[in-house]
Amino acid sequence: MPKVKFHRDEKLIEREVAKNANLVVLAGIKTFPEIKYGCGMGKCTKCTSKIISGAEHLPPPNWKEEKMLGEEKLQQGYRLTCQLEITEDIELMQE
Ligand code: FES
Repeated sequence: MPKVKFHRDEKLIEREVAKNANLVVLAGIKTFPEIKYGCGMGKCTKCTSKIISGAEHLPPPNWKEEKMLGEEKLQQGYRLTCQLEITEDIELMQE
């Protein structure tokens, strides 16, 4: 099971999640309630996270991430958490 290290408000939360889990879905069902999110559909950017490590295991940004985040934010390591399925260990943060 992938390990998630999640930073927010100067706290670090570490939790294992099922392979292919979506962290926004887990937030919605209160399994990972610390994650900020909104629409769950790639339209609001409230779930934006900066990937600290493990980005190499993520698929390339999809068209929603490209549209909503833009090239500069993607280059800086930001992703829309609602668009990601976690398959390997990852460390990320939300501001
Ligand atoms: S929750 Fe709205 S874009 Fe991810």
